[in-house]
Amino acid sequence: MKTIVINGGETLTGTINIGGAKNSAVALIPACVLADGNLTIKNVPNISDKDALIEILNLLNVKVVEEKDQLIINTKNIKNNVINEILSNKLRASYYFMGSLLGRFKKVEMYFPGGCNIGSRPIDLHLKGFEALGAKVNKIDSKYIITADELKGADIYLDFASVGATINIMFAAVKAIGTTVIHNAAKEVEIENVAHFLNNMGAKIKGAGTDIITIEGVQELKEASIAVIPDRIEAGTYIIMGALLGKNLVIEGLNPDHLTVVLNKIREMGVELKVLDHKVIINKAKSLKAVNVRTSVYPGFPTDLGQPMSVLLTQGEGISQFEETIFENRMGHIPNLQKMGAKIEYEGQHAVFYGKCSLHGAKIAATDLRSGAALVTAGLIAKGETVINDAEHILRGYERIINKLSNVGAKIEIIEV
Ligand code: UD1
Repeated sequence: MKTIVINGGETLTGTINIGGAKNSAVALIPACVLADGNLTIKNVPNISDKDALIEILNLLNVKVVEEKDQLIINTKNIKNNVINEILSNKLRASYYFMGSLLGRFKKVEMYFPGGCNIGSRPIDLHLKGFEALGAKVNKIDSKYIITADELKGADIYLDFASVGATINIMFAAVKAIGTTVIHNAAKEVEIENVAHFLNNMGAKIKGAGTDIITIEGVQELKEASIAVIPDRIEAGTYIIMGALLGKNLVIEGLNPDHLTVVLNKIREMGVELKVLDHKVIINKAKSLKAVNVRTSVYPGFPTDLGQPMSVLLTQGEGISQFEETIFENRMGHIPNLQKMGAKIEYEGQHAVFYGKCSLHGAKIAATDLRSGAALVTAGLIAKGETVINDAEHILRGYERIINKLSNVGAKIEIIEV
């Protein structure tokens, strides 16, 4: 097990460089199997979810060369092997191989995906989308065998604007016969990044980033390259840390347009931010106002930043209300924050924060990726030593987090226990 140990209270000053977006990269990598030849992905974050996807590519006999933050993926000798349960289970984004292998081979065999335990996370919308395109889904226990004689364009309405279902349907539809229209598509910027890559390969996708995406099927996809967009969730997490501990802390290499609602909420708390083209400079606020936060789909407040943001709410003067609207089980960090001295009442997806609390170090455990980021944030402001077990969750989505935080003055280390 990996454990993060933090001695809190240090000022953060200097520059943190933001990597490529996890949620883009984990879709861009499976997208490669749709094309023949060499695909290049630049600005790939060095996270363990990336390593798990490369393991799946290796199983499919796809060659991957890693050069710094660039992946060169050669699909020439690809084999449509079954993705076994262990690999399917390693991460949520394994589900993108459902759409991409179906799109390429009209057949895919794999298991239910893994990922953070933040709710039931069904994949019914993905499967309904595949079926609308003409596929048959056969489920035996947790194994899925999805086949199609032919994939044909269709009009698909998503009951919920799901990120995963939107991307997976794009993958399955990109080489289908005729035109597919996804209504009530998710609008997250990562989806635009993925559509951009597919279009670079020769796909005909319009409307990505809006709630209606039109995909005109093409016969072939060719070699292409793409750069992963900056990780808005990683950037938001470090901005939150800066609001608590920053002294001219520079968060560099982000796209502030992707974080408008987060930056506004942090400003509403009384934090002064300097927003430039690709960076944000942030100083610790003298005092923080209580605010209400409600997560929602893009461009709303991202659910993935709800947990880190809640640490900021423990420091607001007064009562802050917090509501999570996307996942049913995203409060795993709260008992840990309570253990550190935070005054929070919560039930279901709603929490009330009574600020301002002084936090103290404790022995706690990450329950999922973003809860882990919240606990690191709490550990950085807590008095004394915080020990965070199960830190593997955090490394799934934050590249070189120990390094990035140590470089700006945090007392943080990771140990194997
Ligand atoms: C993706 C992100 C995750 C982020 C989430 C919402 C990846 C790998 N993960 O997750 O970091 O928190 O978007 O921004 O990109 N749902 C169904 N049926 C489905 C699909 C989804 O009911 O078939 C529900 C989910 O249970 C959830 C909601 O829809 O309540 C949103 O899920 P979705 O947008 O699909 O999230 P993920 O793709 O799992």
